[in-house]
Amino acid sequence: MLPIINLSNIVKIYKSGSDDLLALNHINLIVSKGELTAIIGESGSGKSTLLNIIGLLDKPSSGIYQLSGIAVDELSDDELSVIRNQKIGFVFQSFFLLPRLNALQNVIMPLIYRGVHDKEAKLCGMAMLEKMGIEQLWHHKPSQMSGGQQQRVALARALIGEPEVILADEPTGSLDSKTGQEVMDLFIELNNHDRNTIIVVTHDQHISQQCRRVVRVHDGSIVSDEVN
Ligand SMILES: Nc1ncnc2c1ncn2[C@@H]1O[C@H](COP(=O)(O)OP(=O)(O)OP(=O)(O)O)[C@@H](O)[C@H]1O
Ligand SMILES: [Mg+2]
Repeated sequence: MLPIINLSNIVKIYKSGSDDLLALNHINLIVSKGELTAIIGESGSGKSTLLNIIGLLDKPSSGIYQLSGIAVDELSDDELSVIRNQKIGFVFQSFFLLPRLNALQNVIMPLIYRGVHDKEAKLCGMAMLEKMGIEQLWHHKPSQMSGGQQQRVALARALIGEPEVILADEPTGSLDSKTGQEVMDLFIELNNHDRNTIIVVTHDQHISQQCRRVVRVHDGSIVSDEVN
């Protein structure tokens, strides 16, 4: 299997005043194309820091990160945002939908960024909403949708640019367990059917045990890495 994510010796130190905080302590992690991986660990263990580095939202203090063969440490901020936009789809606990835009407009944002024409973007957006089973809600604003529906919109937005990797930080964290499971079912289907590479950070053991691979982080280190 091709390594799509290859982290070697990643260290992240947050500098706050005179105190340095070692958030990631020599992380080595290889993720292959098509894997469904959970990252688990207690609060403050470094899960989001790790995911943000994988997603090019943050830079490591040291170490080497290759994303589909590209050594991203050497890239400028502009080059990083281009790669992030092309290769990464993010989903967060609090959805981060734009409140003034309807579902369809939110979903097509990444395409509009890329310069795709409105009409073509909307056709893609409707197809993606259909895939998520919420095409009838296309004109709803986020405040007019349930949490689960909003997370589907966020997932549609993450997927529309056909990213190589989907990164989800507590995607079910603000949903009740039934709705959370429905969102997890979508991840599983995307992974099974489309061979999407997906990394899910979660506190919820019920969610992590549905992932083929489970990586546990403790105090900034990977302490176990198991295949279910
Ligand atoms: N921007 C920052 N500046 C300083 N310290 C930070 C920053 N972001 C995170 N930290 C610290 O780094 C450590 C790891 O944080 P991180 O957010 O990665 O944990 P987490 O595992 O995602 O926790 P949670 O489950 O609560 O979301 C924590 O001690 C946190 O306080
Ligand atoms: Mg976190």
